Amino acid sequence: MSTRGLAFGIDIGGSGVKGAVVDLATGELAHDRIKIATPQPSTPNAVAETVAKLVAQSDWDGPVGITLPSVVVNGIARTAANIDKAWVDTDARQLFSLALDGREVVVLNDADAAGMAEDRYGAARNIEGLVMLLTFGTGIGSALLYHGTLVPNTEFGHIEVKGKEAEHRAASSVKERKDLSYKAWAGEVTKVLITLENLLWPDVIVAGGGISRDAEHWIPLLGNRTPVVAAHLKNTAGIVGAAMAVDGGIAP
Ligand code: BGC
Repeated sequence: MSTRGLAFGIDIGGSGVKGAVVDLATGELAHDRIKIATPQPSTPNAVAETVAKLVAQSDWDGPVGITLPSVVVNGIARTAANIDKAWVDTDARQLFSLALDGREVVVLNDADAAGMAEDRYGAARNIEGLVMLLTFGTGIGSALLYHGTLVPNTEFGHIEVKGKEAEHRAASSVKERKDLSYKAWAGEVTKVLITLENLLWPDVIVAGGGISRDAEHWIPLLGNRTPVVAAHLKNTAGIVGAAMAVDGGIAP
């Protein structure tokens, strides 16, 4: 199957590799997402095998968009903050393409994919100006879009905020590890947001990642200036953004 208006997206995360056909007119999945546990260790070859298995479970034979929790430049993974270190300098586009019998593959950063999806279909779809998305999970991912155009690989989770890397201060994994209350954690998130908004002046900040499902417990506690809204696409944003990337959202 490879039909106009549809594209296949795969989101590679620390615990699961998830994929589905996406209807690009609506940003909705055309069927239930397919999920396979991320192999451990999550080495490039093991993950590529999992991706091939996942695609084989669908009847999709067209190009595929794939996210990685890494800086991705011209299809090459340059960092590996929360995935096996062997990804650094791996030509991910070539690796996945070989695993998928030579078909066209686009690889992009996971937060960039989520940002593209929220910008077109989700929480930022009516925002005209500068949109910043931050995903709070094991680390902090970021995406920056101006009038719908993505500036890839922003990596704001690694900016230093008051002497500490932002994701070591305010990822949701820090809340869990230190057993912080929403109030205490929101204080840390606020510090990160103030640093970023003073540099970039976004019109809106979209908060994504699993903890955005509990947004009502912590977004009202934030003390920064820019409006913060919860992501809408929840656990499909990465898949949808990956599918958009194949469709020309970013250069393959
Ligand atoms: C990585 C980013 C990634 C984010 C969310 C960060 O540690 O550096 O590339 O987008 O985690 O997975």
